[in-house]
Amino acid sequence: MSDLPHQPNAAATPRRRYAIVGLGSRRELYQDGIEKVHSRWAELVAVCDSNPGRIELARARSARNGARVPPGYAAADFDRMLSECRPDVVIVATIDSAHHGYLIRAMQAGCDVITEKPMTTEAAHCRQILETCRQTGRHCRVTFNYRYSPPRSQVKELLMSGVIGEVLSVDFHWLLNTHHGADYFRRWHAQKRNSGGLFVHKSTHHFDLVNWWLGAVPVAVAATGKREFYTPAMARRMGLSGPHERCATCPETAACGFHLDLRSSPGLKALYLDQEQHDGYWRDRCVFRPDIDIEDTLNALVTYDTGATLSYSLNAFNAWEGYTVAFNGTKGRLEHSVVESVYVNGTETVQGGVSADGVRLRIIPLRSTGYEIAPWSAEGDHGGGDRLMLEDIFLPEAGPDRFLRKADERAGACSILVGIAANQSLVTGARVQLADLIGELPPPDFAPMPSRAAPVPMPPRPA
Ligand SMILES: NC(=O)c1ccc[n+]([C@@H]2O[C@H](COP(=O)([O-])OP(=O)(O)OC[C@H]3O[C@@H](n4cnc5c(N)ncnc54)[C@H](O)[C@@H]3O)[C@@H](O)[C@H]2O)c1
Repeated sequence: MSDLPHQPNAAATPRRRYAIVGLGSRRELYQDGIEKVHSRWAELVAVCDSNPGRIELARARSARNGARVPPGYAAADFDRMLSECRPDVVIVATIDSAHHGYLIRAMQAGCDVITEKPMTTEAAHCRQILETCRQTGRHCRVTFNYRYSPPRSQVKELLMSGVIGEVLSVDFHWLLNTHHGADYFRRWHAQKRNSGGLFVHKSTHHFDLVNWWLGAVPVAVAATGKREFYTPAMARRMGLSGPHERCATCPETAACGFHLDLRSSPGLKALYLDQEQHDGYWRDRCVFRPDIDIEDTLNALVTYDTGATLSYSLNAFNAWEGYTVAFNGTKGRLEHSVVESVYVNGTETVQGGVSADGVRLRIIPLRSTGYEIAPWSAEGDHGGGDRLMLEDIFLPEAGPDRFLRKADERAGACSILVGIAANQSLVTGARVQLADLIGELPPPDFAPMPSRAAPVPMPPRPA
């Protein structure tokens, strides 16, 4: 299957020094990647968070991992952490709206940075990040782990091969079920000021996939959206007396199918319930409460610099979890779908987990019979994508990657700006040009795709 990073010479390679800011559930992937899997090439030299309880949890995990326990720093001491611990690379995994400040300060202090998606939530902050990269010459990497999922890399290979010719349009529909989907409405994600809403927080993965799959830069977006399921009215229609504040104090737990008991999962209890005394953050807020301001139903129409178009939807209260995507090309159609298993962030459930029969790939040439293609697979979270991405991050001499999956600030910008433009379109009702948000958008590096000028074979006449 795809090219993977190869093992470098351990003796000749000094370990890179990493610091992590933002010590919630996603941090565990990076911490274990550094301390357990790639400790020959990487060491964790500092951790930082606004919650002192989660700082201590991260330090305790280092001890369990058999690694040197890193010093912990409060968020207010981030700059002191940089000067005292001198990390080469800062990994940013805070809530989305706090990414930009840490990215910019770390690069200005001479560090490279790795940021969780979305790179940031606002166009002005995106401009500042791009500008800081230019001024400092430091590297900013955006961890688009979805690119590394084997069937999605396989889609890239098929599109690069030209088997369906040049892609003229894409239909992409993402479904979140009422376990994973509902979880966004309980947490900090439920406020746009924290997450940018699902068009930014969640769809950044999907818009990045399309940008990367097509090797194209988005130009304009029109969108619609609403919240009609996670609402006080829906709580009443489902037989509750109305929304409540949080699950821990809810008077109607027996009647509510969305009840989440933080004590039921050791991970949730340790990470959130036991730490709420420090910052008042409740991980189990009512999914029907009125102060939620994100949408649960989103549609966007996106145009690209190649002329290709995308019809996209995201639904957060669906009967199943996964997606369908179809590429309509000059020589045929590629259809791909994935049915994922149940996932709740911070629990033992596997994000992006798929069963062997949950992945489909099909090519239908114009005027010919379609055929199935056996999907590539790998073990682990996000269909094995997380493990492959960590190898690409931490191994010092990554092998050549013909899919160019490594994403930088340009790819981070191209993806979030589609979501930010879509949010703007929700407010104004108008189609939004990305250039109006950002000025000139530097194009990311893409692997070569079938030429738009290539001759197109005449399809055979119907038999
Ligand atoms: N790539 C993926 O598939 C994936 C999956 C999950 C999360 N994520 C991303 O990872 C990031 C973290 O998500 P999570 O699920 O771990 O959330 P979380 O709520 O579990 O953790 C967030 C952490 O950030 C800390 N924090 C909040 N504001 C801060 C600030 N101003 N300064 C320092 N620390 C601050 C919180 O105390 C908490 O420890 C988000 O950007 C999210 O989008 C990505």
